[in-house]
Amino acid sequence: MAAEIPKIPSLVSEAKEAFKTAFGSEPDIAVSAPGRVNIIGEHTDYNDGFVFPMALPLVTVFVGKKTASGICRVLTLSKSADKPHQVEFSIPSPTTPLTPGKPDWANYVKGVVANFPGDISGFDAVVTTSVPLGGGLSSSASLEVATYTFLEAVTGNNAASLQAKALVCQKAEHDFANMPCGIMDQFISTMGKAGCALLIDCRSLESSLVPLDDPSVTFVITNSNVRHTLSGSEYPTRRRQCYEAAAALGKKSLRDATLEDLEKSRSSLSKEVYCRAKHVISEIQRTSEAVTLLKNADYATFGKLMTDSHNSLRDDYEVSCPELDQLVSSALEVPGVFGSRMTGGGFGGCTVTLVKQESVENLISHTLRNSQWKTNLLCVFTFKKDPTSACSVISATGDQMNQPMVAIYF
Ligand code: GLA
Repeated sequence: MAAEIPKIPSLVSEAKEAFKTAFGSEPDIAVSAPGRVNIIGEHTDYNDGFVFPMALPLVTVFVGKKTASGICRVLTLSKSADKPHQVEFSIPSPTTPLTPGKPDWANYVKGVVANFPGDISGFDAVVTTSVPLGGGLSSSASLEVATYTFLEAVTGNNAASLQAKALVCQKAEHDFANMPCGIMDQFISTMGKAGCALLIDCRSLESSLVPLDDPSVTFVITNSNVRHTLSGSEYPTRRRQCYEAAAALGKKSLRDATLEDLEKSRSSLSKEVYCRAKHVISEIQRTSEAVTLLKNADYATFGKLMTDSHNSLRDDYEVSCPELDQLVSSALEVPGVFGSRMTGGGFGGCTVTLVKQESVENLISHTLRNSQWKTNLLCVFTFKKDPTSACSVISATGDQMNQPMVAIYF
């Protein structure tokens, strides 16, 4: 039942073939950028807090060629992308700026083109992905970062820093997808490394890699196949409530607040805003503790923090859904499971579970047997240490061109 993850070379050859058919010539650039799973630290990034994601071998691939046409033509092979599958738009100028529109998927590409700090003369491209769309594994950020990396190759104009690149991609999402996201997804898609998770301090933007190299444990990602949409009102509302709480507590952000501060101000907050802040403050605390526990291989306590995180997201932040809750409680019934939680923005998408390697098969069969939404549960991804699946920016011939940027597992 475990899903086969398409390898980058096969995504690239599929895209190259489609490019030849659509544009009648050979592409000469291919790049990729990974999706991510967030292990712990949810809805903390826009509160200056900590997050702890890892990049995945699920990637968006962007294949194409520079032109001098002043036009960008982009074809998507993604089956579930909104139609039409090909878009065409002019390079923006001060008098004719780019604006978001339909189809939705193209807004991520347009947003990066509009904010790219370099001269673009035009390009033709094909984009394809193995990141499930709307699955909470950062399909959008991987498209933005792949677009940026493609533009670097097309223009020869490399970002001043990886942070700067991630920030442009985040701005693209704010301006063109109307999604006021934090920095986590673009940051990990830009900076993830094979075999590691990344602890990111979303205030200073400093980050440190944490090796995931213990073969006795595995993270399992389970897709509820409930499609999450974050550009609705829920995400911006949560963000606003956090800022309201920080202001009421007299703090710059919830990063600076403790649970004691929150209790002292409880009477000045609505019950809802109190609960939102309680999640964020406790989640920032859990995330910094969790990283030390993982480094010390204390999986039992680490797993408990993952499950506490889920409960807090469900009860206080109210961003879970029955399908995610059911996947988590079912996983926790399996001997050898240390902890389980929803991952990403919520309202659908995936769960992430830390489990003993020897218990993975049991976990998968128990999940499938137990799921009340069996028809929705299509795939279970397991990640094991496999250095060969680390991937990077690649040329159209499949050669490695740049620093590794995809990671995983154990
Ligand atoms: C989405 C956003 C991120 C982050 C998560 C929740 O994925 O893009 O910035 O806020 O939700 O942790």
